[in-house]
Parts: sequence; C-alpha cells; structure tokens
Amino acid sequence: MMRGHGVPQEHYFARETHSSPQLIPVRTRLRGIETHLVSAHGVFSHRGLDRGTELLVAAMEVGAEDTVLDLGCGYGAVAVAAARLAIRGWVVASDVSMRAVELCRMNLAAQPSSRTLVLQADGYTAFRPGSFDVIVTNPPIRAGWRVVFPLIDGAPEMLRPGGTFFAVGRARQGIDTLVRRIEGAFGNCEVIRRGSGYKVVRARRG
Ligand SMILES: C[S@@+](CC[C@H](N)C(=O)[O-])C[C@H]1O[C@@H](n2cnc3c(N)ncnc32)[C@H](O)[C@@H]1O
Repeated sequence: MMRGHGVPQEHYFARETHSSPQLIPVRTRLRGIETHLVSAHGVFSHRGLDRGTELLVAAMEVGAEDTVLDLGCGYGAVAVAAARLAIRGWVVASDVSMRAVELCRMNLAAQPSSRTLVLQADGYTAFRPGSFDVIVTNPPIRAGWRVVFPLIDGAPEMLRPGGTFFAVGRARQGIDTLVRRIEGAFGNCEVIRRGSGYKVVRARRG
C-alpha cells in the first residue's frame, strides 16, 4: 500500500475485494450511545472511530423525517448515527469500496430503522438531483483533491432547496482548501465545531 499526503491509499480505490474479511469489533459512543460496530482491514480507520468522524457525528443536524446521504460511508458510523435520528426518514450510504459497503450493511442491519439503503457508487453517479435533505461526508482527502472536489461540487445539486451539507477535515490535510471549495459550490460555509485539529463545516443550499 502506498502512503503519503496526496497519494491514494488502497482503501480509496479498492472497489472489489475478493477475500472474506475478518471482522474487527469497534466499540464506540455515537452521540452518547454505546455502539458496537464491525470493521475490517482495508477500510478507513478500521481499528476505531476516526476523531474527525466522531466530531462530524456529534455536530451533524438530522431531522426525524430527513433523507440523508452518508457519502463515502466506510463501515458506516455516520449512517448508523443518522439512522437513529432520521427515524421516519431514509438513510442512504454509499462508498466506492465494496468491502465498506458490506460492512456498512452489517452495521445498519442492527439499527431499528429499516429505511436504509447501502450501495457501491462513485460520488453521485447513482443519485438523482434533489434527492437529499442532508449530505454528510468525511471526505477521502488523502485520495487527493481530484477525487474530493467532485464530491463537493456535486453536492448542491443533489440537495433539495434548503438542504444541508456537513463535512469534516483536518487542518494539516487542508481543511481551508476544503472550506474554500465548499464556499465556491454553495456560496456559504460555516465552521460549526472544532477539536483536535479538525473542523466540521456546514453549508446550506439556498
Ligand atoms: C475518510 S473515509 C470516511 C469513511 C467513513 N465515513 C468514516 O468516517 O469512517 C472516506 C471514504 O470515502 C470513500 N470514497 C473514496 N472515493 C470515493 C468516491 N469517489 N465516491 C464515494 N466514496 C468514495 C473511501 O472508500 C472511504 O471509505
């Protein structure tokens, strides 16, 4: 696996994995609720919840009736937290990695809401414009801006009018570049939470 800033890591472009992964238990708290998830090698932050994800989950605003997209879901911590909030809505989770999709399905299966859909997709290619009230993402910054910018630029069109976009990024990975891109796409972007060198931002479609 190649490492380094701006260099794609295996989990960012492994669309298909052929071996059956050994499941790794992840015990965490999502918005104060003790939560048991499963993870596996080859997915982002497989040993435990990423600090950025934790902050994103804590800060995201999801209504009971909302249709939410967890874009780049990994093993699905954001989707699980969203499914507990959007109790009469829908949670859609997507990732380019099939292993991530399978793990996210397992983790969502344990949630009370059955209104969930997990699919393998590159960016927004599987979705129709205006499908979501909320899009939440911990974007694959290490994969490079060439991968991340389309996820930002495509977001306003995928949201219903008044819909919101939440993202997290780390200062040393270029959160300010991310913020500028979101401002360019939405015409607004607000930092709503900070911690451990991360910022969670929110933008609204007018
Ligand atoms: C930083 S990880 C976040 C994973 C998970 N949301 C979390 O917070 O633990 C970014 C995820 O985006 C996925 N990804 C990369 N490029 C993508 C693309 N073009 N479309 C959808 N997902 C993508 C990666 O496979 C990875 O799971």
